[in-house]
Order: sequence, then C-alpha cells, then structure tokens
Amino acid sequence: MCGIVGYVGEKQALEVVVSGLRRLEYRGYDSAGVAVIADGRLEVRKKAGKLVNLETLLGEDPLPQSTTGIGHTRWATHGGPTDRNAHPHVSEDQQVAVIHNGIIENFAELRDELQAAGVHLSSETDTEVVAHLLSKAIPAAGFDLVEAMRAVCRRLEGAFTLLAVDPRQPDLVVGARRNSPLVVGLGKGENFLASDVAAFVEYTRDALELGQDQIVALTSGEVVVIDFDGNPAEVRPFTIDWDASAAEKGGHDLFMLKEIAEQPKAVADSLRGRIGQDGHLQLDEMRLADADLRAVSKVVVIACGTAAHAGMVAKYAVEHWTRIPVEVELASEFRYRDPIVGPDTLVIAISQSGETMDTLMALRHAKAQGARTLAICNTVGSTIPREADAVVYTYAGPEIAVASTKAFLTQIIASYLVGLYLAQVRGTMFADEIRAIMDDLNDMPQKVDLVLDTVEPVRAIAREFANAPSVLFIGRHVGFPVALEGALKLKELAYMHAEGFAAGELKHGPIALIEDGVPVVVIMPSPRGRAVLHDKMISAIQEVRARGAVIIAIAEEGDEKIVAFSDHVIRVPIVPTLMQPLVSTVPLQVFACEMATAKGHDVDQPRNLAKSVTVE
Ligand code: F6R
Repeated sequence: MCGIVGYVGEKQALEVVVSGLRRLEYRGYDSAGVAVIADGRLEVRKKAGKLVNLETLLGEDPLPQSTTGIGHTRWATHGGPTDRNAHPHVSEDQQVAVIHNGIIENFAELRDELQAAGVHLSSETDTEVVAHLLSKAIPAAGFDLVEAMRAVCRRLEGAFTLLAVDPRQPDLVVGARRNSPLVVGLGKGENFLASDVAAFVEYTRDALELGQDQIVALTSGEVVVIDFDGNPAEVRPFTIDWDASAAEKGGHDLFMLKEIAEQPKAVADSLRGRIGQDGHLQLDEMRLADADLRAVSKVVVIACGTAAHAGMVAKYAVEHWTRIPVEVELASEFRYRDPIVGPDTLVIAISQSGETMDTLMALRHAKAQGARTLAICNTVGSTIPREADAVVYTYAGPEIAVASTKAFLTQIIASYLVGLYLAQVRGTMFADEIRAIMDDLNDMPQKVDLVLDTVEPVRAIAREFANAPSVLFIGRHVGFPVALEGALKLKELAYMHAEGFAAGELKHGPIALIEDGVPVVVIMPSPRGRAVLHDKMISAIQEVRARGAVIIAIAEEGDEKIVAFSDHVIRVPIVPTLMQPLVSTVPLQVFACEMATAKGHDVDQPRNLAKSVTVE
C-alpha cells in the first residue's frame, strides 16, 4: 500500500531510490515518482502507471546528479491514479517535497484551512496538504525540516509514513511514522529509509525498527530518532536475515512461481530449531509466561484474506490438540463488534506483512480489552509483532508476489506450533504425541516438494477452463478453508467469479449456481482419515454432477474411489488429515497462476490490489 524509499549518501540517489522502488512495487503500482536535491533546488519526476513509465520519463527527461533523494510507488486512495496525484507532492514555494503512505483522516479540514489561507492545491490527494503545511511551518521552526515535521505531525490524524526533503537542508531526509511502516537501513557513509527492508537489503543488512509516532532525521553520517514531542526515542536494531537474491526472481518468470517453488524450504525454515535439547517444543520468540498460557480459556484468531484462511485451518488442529475453543474472525469485523475478550483470551494476529491495518487495529483493540496477544508474522521489524506480547515468526523469506502462497503454508505451520506449545504447557497432550506430530510436520517439506514435482497436469486443466464464467471450490473440515483459499487466488489473479463453499452447505443454497459445464474443484478428504467425510464428499459430487458440473478433484494417492466420480483427478501425497491443507493448496495456487497467465494478466501485480494493506 504505497512503497517509500529515501536515501542520503555518496551514491547517485536516483539509482538507489529507483532500485528500491523496483523492490517495493508490490506495495502499489498506480503511479511512481522521485524527488532529488541538486544544485540547491528540488527536481521532481512522476508518472501514472507502473514504475516502468517513470523510468521511461527519466530517460526522456533525466535528473541531475544528486546524493539525496526520495521515491514513491502508489496505491491510490485519495484521487485517481493520475500524473497529478502521483507523489512526491511539492509545496507552492517549490521548497518541500513529500511522499506518503497511509491516509490522513483530517485532510479535508486541513485542506479547507489551507485554501482559506490562499493556498492552491493542485491534486486530489490527502498528501499534498502535508507539503503545504510543512512549507508554512518551516520559518516558525527556524528553517529546520525536522522541527517543522514534528509540528505538522502533531496536527495529523490517521495513518502515515511521511518522507520529506528541502533543498535548504540538502543532505537531509526527514521521515515520520504513525501506524504505517518505516524502517531505517544503516550503511557506511550512507543511510536509507524505506517501507520495507527489501528496498535497501542489497546495500546493507543492518536496520533499525522505528516505533510509533517517531521522527527520523537521516544524513549520510547519522540517524537521529525523536518522538513527536522532540524527546530522544528508543529504536530497536536488527539484522536482516536474508540477502538481496531472496527478493529476486531467481530464474523464474514470476515472483509467484518462485514463491510457490520455495514452499518446501519455507516450511522447513519455519520448523527449524523448534525442538530443544530436552526433546520439548520450544518457541524462542514466545514471550508469554506459561502461567498465562495455562490460564487461557479461549483463543481468537484475527487476520485478513489468506491469513484468515490459515487461521481457519489452525482452528481444526488447535481445538483438537488443546480442547480450547478457537474463534477465527476477520480483523476488519472484530474491532467494530464489541468482541468478548479479556485477560484469559489469547488473541493471535496472523499477518505476513505485519502491517495490515485491519489486523493491527484489531490487535490494539484486543490489547485494550486486556487480552494476551501473539503475532504470527513473516516480517521482522514490522508493527504487529512489535506490538503483540509475543511473536512466532514464519521465516518464509520475502514474499513479493501480491498473492500469498508460501506465507499461507508457513502461517499454518506457525499456528500449529502455537497449538502444540499450548498443548505442551497445559498438558493436554503427551510429549511423545507432540513429537509424533512434529515428525509429521517435518515430513511436510518433502511432501510439498512431491506435489511440485507432479503438479504439471494442473496447468493443462487450468488452460482448459480459462474461459469458464465461474469456478466453484468445495471442501469439508480442513478442506473448507482450502476451498476458500483456492477461490480467493482465482479471483485475485484470474479476475473471474470463484466461490469456496463448505461442501455440506451446497444444498442449502449455492447448488443453485450449478449449471451445465460449471467446473467444481473438490478438495477430497482422505478416505483413511474419517471415512464418513469422504463418503459425504462423494455425495456432494454426485449432487453437483447430476446438475452438469465438471469435477476437478484434488485427492490423495491411492484414493481410487474418486476416479469414477471425477472428470479430472489431481493427485497429492498421502499425509495425516491435519496436514492435508499443506499439500492440497499447492495445486490450487498453480491453477490460479496458470489461468491468470493464460488470460494474459499480470500475475505478480494483479489489478486494484497491493501487497500490504495499510489502510482500514
Ligand atoms: C491474498 C492475500 C491477502 C492477504 C491479506 C493479509 O493472496 O495476499 O488476502 O493475505 O491482505 O495480508 P497480511 O498477511 O500481510 O496481513
């Protein structure tokens, strides 16, 4: 949801900023822009559309050399994706350039105030008001951009990361953050600011997490962080544990294909080091006391989209292992419905990015009610794990494609680890039972690898149905969230109507959607798990087949019964029931990716979307 980069140092700022934007383009691709300071003045270039349009413009109208610059890639909120609304926005006196991620909620009031004072606003954005406010605040702040930023931020409501430059202080980039991400990269004779470490990991792996309501003054030799009141602020240094190549396509045509292929490794990395020398499960980042975990009487999972589907999968396992009731709630609904949570509730926020605003706000709401909170997150240094009482990282490495793949699998793994840890602490499972499940989990990288080795036929099936008006997905038990996930992937990538249903619900309404030729993807439960579920699924297939549906079954090796009831069977390896989502989701990811490719869509950057949704 908008990517932001800032640089001060010895290199050409434009090169650093544009290469950072390339790595952040997954956050938004409605427009892109840069500002540099050269020869005592601001130079700005910006263009609607993807970064490549800006690069073309920079070729036609090059910028002068400069070692201080900022850049932005936009996901539009206020105002359409036009050149005029692209960032940076510049003050009327051409002295201040600003880029922004987030939403300034009181912008209308600030705009009215500026207009009443005779300021002409040239865009429809909320961001532009900040440029004008800074320009007005600068003289009163003794011509110090840091002080001006402090004064302006205190007037802003909502969520914002802001970066600003001013040619009167040519070697300075000032950043501010509230509720939106901003990290500092620490170099030698150069420093960086960005929404995500991916923007600067090729130059440095030393970084600083910034806290809420902090302002950072970045020069080539120094990073000074203060709070909005001007007091020195505490920051947390961290080291990025992956290198720049992890954020490259690595020989694949698409980030999504690379990330699908990385799933065995991502799962293995998420499981690594979880068993201590005493043979017990250990979660190093778990900062909750055992006594608190023993007191938990309810678990509530809050998450959005794919992460919520991972939470739904986890519910089946965690309830089974711990006998603690688990609710799964969309984060955007949780906060506004007066949920019943208290000190004996464990609220688990699942988020790949750690920045999803709906999830963050729900987490804060839970904390305010006194709940214990735990984050399952992939992004070290992000806001959600910092604000939660405890964290379990997923170690999936950077996920760049907008559609989540490896994050989903590793979110399931991490939630399972939390469930098993609760079972261990509360004594609801024996140590050998926990170890047996850990053994099953440790087999999963190899099983996922097997799926990838045999997934090729899925592509031909996807191409066969690329022109279908709609695709339905059905599943039962842990296959139900997998059905939802399969449908979500198809909607977001192939832009086609797709719905996931609990198979048992079909006859209560959705079966009316079935007509001749409608493809129905069926996530088959194992006949070895609970045979009754397998039988019920066959009944559901019969019902839709009788009405003309074409059946694409995802079924385990050796399930021969399914063959007579399906038009296509996609095989996945035999795994224990609770592990099935880890294998059955993979063909659905490939299915959606291939269908989108067949339709000529941009798979890594689907329309209207952004990777990290930092607005509510
Ligand atoms: C779908 C997808 C989204 C995210 C959702 C939550 O492919 O990627 O549905 O899962 O926006 O994002 P995080 O996990 O970053 O909180």
